[in-house]
Amino acid sequence: MCSVVGYVGTHFSRDYILEGLSRLEYRGYDSAGFACLHPENNRLLYCKAKGRLSNLIEKCKQSPIDGYVAIGHTRWSTHGTSTEINAHPHFDCNKTLSIVHNGIIENHHDLKQQLIKTGHTFHSDTDTEIIAHLFESLILTHNTFKGAVVDLVNQLRGAYAFISISQDLPDQMLLVRKRSPLCIGVGDGQMFIASDVLAFADKTKKVLFIPDEHFAIVKHDMIELYDFKGNSKPLIMQDITSDWQAHQKNGHEHYMLKEIYEQKRAIHATVDFLSTLSPDLWNHIDISAEQIRNLKTISLVGCGTSWHAARIAQFFFETICKLPTKVQLASEMRYMHFFKEPANMHIAISQSGETADTLEALRMVNDFDIPTLAITNVASSTMVREADGFILTQAGHEVAVASTKAFSTQLTALYWLAHRIALERGLIEQHDLKNAEQDLFIIAEVLENGIENYKRTIQKVLAPKYAQFNKSIFLGRHISYPFAMEAALKLKEISYIFAQCYPAGELKHGPLALIDEQMPVYIFSVQDPIIYQKLVANTQEAKARGGHIVVFAFEGQDELCSLAETSFVLPRVKTLLEPLAMSGLMQYLAYEIANVLGCEIDKPRNLAKSVTVE
Ligand code: F6R
Repeated sequence: MCSVVGYVGTHFSRDYILEGLSRLEYRGYDSAGFACLHPENNRLLYCKAKGRLSNLIEKCKQSPIDGYVAIGHTRWSTHGTSTEINAHPHFDCNKTLSIVHNGIIENHHDLKQQLIKTGHTFHSDTDTEIIAHLFESLILTHNTFKGAVVDLVNQLRGAYAFISISQDLPDQMLLVRKRSPLCIGVGDGQMFIASDVLAFADKTKKVLFIPDEHFAIVKHDMIELYDFKGNSKPLIMQDITSDWQAHQKNGHEHYMLKEIYEQKRAIHATVDFLSTLSPDLWNHIDISAEQIRNLKTISLVGCGTSWHAARIAQFFFETICKLPTKVQLASEMRYMHFFKEPANMHIAISQSGETADTLEALRMVNDFDIPTLAITNVASSTMVREADGFILTQAGHEVAVASTKAFSTQLTALYWLAHRIALERGLIEQHDLKNAEQDLFIIAEVLENGIENYKRTIQKVLAPKYAQFNKSIFLGRHISYPFAMEAALKLKEISYIFAQCYPAGELKHGPLALIDEQMPVYIFSVQDPIIYQKLVANTQEAKARGGHIVVFAFEGQDELCSLAETSFVLPRVKTLLEPLAMSGLMQYLAYEIANVLGCEIDKPRNLAKSVTVE
């Protein structure tokens, strides 16, 4: 998704801006741009390019513009296609003021019509350009810069984080934040600005996260912070904990491969972290032990892979805590009727902690005064700040767009949390929680060994074979159904192979019509003997129609394996941990198939890592 980067200081800043943008490249984008003020005459200079950031870097080399006040942007198209004209920065009529923006201005159409009537000329199809023109007109009609900003934010609807620089106020920068993240790294006589702290994590130790619905006027040695009414606000600095060095590929061909292999360590780290937190957990997440004991229901919400983790975790909470658990897709939940349930806890699951739909769902629940908990991987994220409490998965920074280690650590945290709640409710003993932790350590081993055992065959035989099919069906039952959804998502997002997932029991209600010799049918088994037998029957139905069967099974499931062209067999594990056991192997197979097809694995087309627009 879009990223913004800025700099105000006493050094030339183009290299910092371009490097900052390249660090945030993994988030996904389709054009890029840079603007700065000329160091001597303050004239606004800019350069934009369609496509990859490398195109912008090449273009900048040809017109070596640079300055002490500068902004940069990578754009993920929402309004208007990916063209140089639509790339940010955008300008006012006189090209004296420049804006880079993340988010969406929802009332851009009405504002544009009004501005056109008053003589403004637009050049792009973007919603962002409206901000520049509206700001231009408001500056003319207000006595103070601050007054113009307050009026501006009152007129803009939507979610946005934007930075503006202007020839007329050449030593300062305006930062505005509503719902989209924006932060300032405070250096010695210089300020580093970005939508993600990663852009400047090695440049300074102190960061100010602009609070929601606030704006800041920033000079090289000073920050003024205001709320949207124009009231001055105190600056609350935080220490930067992200480590840029940990974000390299470390010899792996892709980040995704590196991250698949980091799962064993990440699961261990998550369990160790939670185990240390355990005695003080309820304080940490700002919910009382009594509230936990009295809980009647749990609600889980997320998007994409995080929603799949939630669907799997439903089995954890219902089986281990005996609590009815509802799972919702954030993008749907927001527009459904909301019924406040007594003694309910809401858990928002999000790797990034920034996903717009999940964040808005969390905000909606916060308004109902229900305890909320965010399970996220990013300590500096908005969800951490806005949920009543938070638990951090210890996956480490996940760069590849396709989530791997974030998914497995979400499952780890949710499995552990289900046990911790059950302990508080007197359903299990302390030693059961310890055993659950041991089971997670065992699963981390099974996950990694699963990859190692099949690595060569996948590389040499199976990935080239399955890369030839351009469509596939994924089936699961019970806890393996949401896992099959995750597997289908992994394959389609990185290899572009069409992958449709169904609960296996639904096959005969329609999807069976799709099956022939050209259709690989991936089946994810369970160990429960009754459900297993049903799954075998479903596999036979697919086999009888010529389906090309691929099974992920457990030791002793010979009947299922005998129906398959390809079978992956894992050791028997705790039933609730079956998805976690299979995840490494499933991700690795998808990865190698995409690799055979030469796909851009870490940054699949059209996708963004952090989906900060609805
Ligand atoms: C797929 C994937 C996405 C994310 C989804 C939610 O591999 O990563 O489906 O899971 O965009 O993102 P977060 O977890 O950051 O809220």
